[in-house]
Amino acid sequence: MASGMCGSILVTGSNRGIGLELVRQMAESPSPPSQIFAGCRNPDGPNAKDLKELAQRHQKLITIVCLDTSSESSVREAAKQVGSRLNNGALNLLINNAGINVPGTLSESGQKEMVDVFVTNTVGPMLVSKEFLPYLKKAAAQLGSQEMSCRKSAVINISTLLSSIEKCHTNFAFAPMYPYRVSKAAVNMLTRCLAEDLKSDGILVTAIHPGWVQTDMGGSQAPLPAEDSVKGMLKVFANLTEKDAGNLLDWEGNPIPW
Ligand SMILES: NC(=O)c1ccc[n+]([C@@H]2O[C@H](COP(=O)([O-])OP(=O)(O)OC[C@H]3O[C@@H](n4cnc5c(N)ncnc54)[C@H](OP(=O)(O)O)[C@@H]3O)[C@@H](O)[C@H]2O)c1
Repeated sequence: MASGMCGSILVTGSNRGIGLELVRQMAESPSPPSQIFAGCRNPDGPNAKDLKELAQRHQKLITIVCLDTSSESSVREAAKQVGSRLNNGALNLLINNAGINVPGTLSESGQKEMVDVFVTNTVGPMLVSKEFLPYLKKAAAQLGSQEMSCRKSAVINISTLLSSIEKCHTNFAFAPMYPYRVSKAAVNMLTRCLAEDLKSDGILVTAIHPGWVQTDMGGSQAPLPAEDSVKGMLKVFANLTEKDAGNLLDWEGNPIPW
């Protein structure tokens, strides 16, 4: 299956779950992008084994980058490293995928749980977007005459249905997760702010809900294999245009209300 993605792409949190599957499907597409930077907070740790094997099979395409999105210095260092390896200094697509969840009922949630989850899920995508912005701007400028798209220059923030304030009454009892929901609702606002801020540069910013996916985070009860979620998301990414800027869509392209 063609991924529909081209140019250079960075995926954060790409050593397992949805991030690993994103990198795998893009790399194994018959028309892969030209460069994939696979962010991983601990490339030498046991959780990176599958990503390393994948990168080994696609040595010319995949570069593993040490990137802890909860550390400002790590994000800066990763931006420097990626910048020195980008073709023409341009990054076409940033996928802010890294995320965490913790047991999160009201009684389980204190300051530490709220702040830790916020730092990774909300501050992380903000810092990564900020530090990689010069490369996204360069890509947008190089393809200046084209419409906004993930092929030109875009930021995708992986959000969730659980971020939706309007839908909360329909699913709160099923997933009473204070830190996670609050952090992802903030990701939606980050998405809207970035979309407004960067539209004059021609950079598209959209939030995506990947579905309830069979990963370590989603658990074994989840109905959707990562393979199907990612197949769907890549199709959605390939068709995103200016009208999707600042919106939250699901993995099949359906809009989710704030
Ligand atoms: N699974 C679902 O049903 C579902 C539903 C809605 C939204 N999402 C969202 O989809 C994204 C991916 O979730 P997933 O299901 O693939 O989760 P996962 O299986 O738990 O994988 C999370 C990934 O994020 C990485 N990560 C966590 N904190 C990081 C940090 N500070 N710096 C860099 N990487 C970090 C992890 O790396 P380590 O191996 O180092 O921990 C891992 O690669 C998340 O944003 C999640 O909120 C998932």
